[in-house]
Amino acid sequence: MNKEPPRHNVPLPIAILASGKGSNFAAIVNAAKSGYCPVDIRLLISDRANSPALQLARDFGIKTHYISPKDYKNRIEFDAACAKHINDAACKLIVLAGYMRILSDDFVDQFANRIINIHPSLLPSFTGAHAVRDALQYGVKITGCTVHIVNEILDGGPILGQEAMKILDNDTEQSLHTRIHAAEHRLYPRILRELATS
Ligand code: GRF
Repeated sequence: MNKEPPRHNVPLPIAILASGKGSNFAAIVNAAKSGYCPVDIRLLISDRANSPALQLARDFGIKTHYISPKDYKNRIEFDAACAKHINDAACKLIVLAGYMRILSDDFVDQFANRIINIHPSLLPSFTGAHAVRDALQYGVKITGCTVHIVNEILDGGPILGQEAMKILDNDTEQSLHTRIHAAEHRLYPRILRELATS
């Protein structure tokens, strides 16, 4: 019998790109460690030297690459440097976790349907960098978070999953973002688990 083993017996090799605090990254690491999420986090790439995500990755013993945008002429060359690390590590999926750079079309094409992102609103509402503030200012009563595939449209790719929550009368941007973060830490590992086991 020449039967391939079921996919979920082999952890899915992933790269995580993060610019900030790294709480989603940490949630994914913990989900991988507990066995809930069968992924093999091969590297963490950051564009910010002082990103806490970088230090977290070092603490977890995950390979890190800090790539400084200042060292590259343009976005295409910067993204090509990221792509080289990702390809060298044979990663099959790229997970954006608070990555604050817009990806070049070249990069998105190269990894078509293999890049996912988490966004702190119920897309397609409130795209962009200030989604939590924008939802509060608009006065919507329900918001949440979304995991989606990345395509050429900013925050516009196919939706893989969402979690919704009420906005409370006394919410501030900070209190709301804290609750959204908690939801993100459930949603991202759940979607990754689905992708890694399908
Ligand atoms: C999250 O709210 C995510 O939705 C957005 O950036 C934030 C990253 O938070 N894309 P963290 O760095 O994972 O804590």
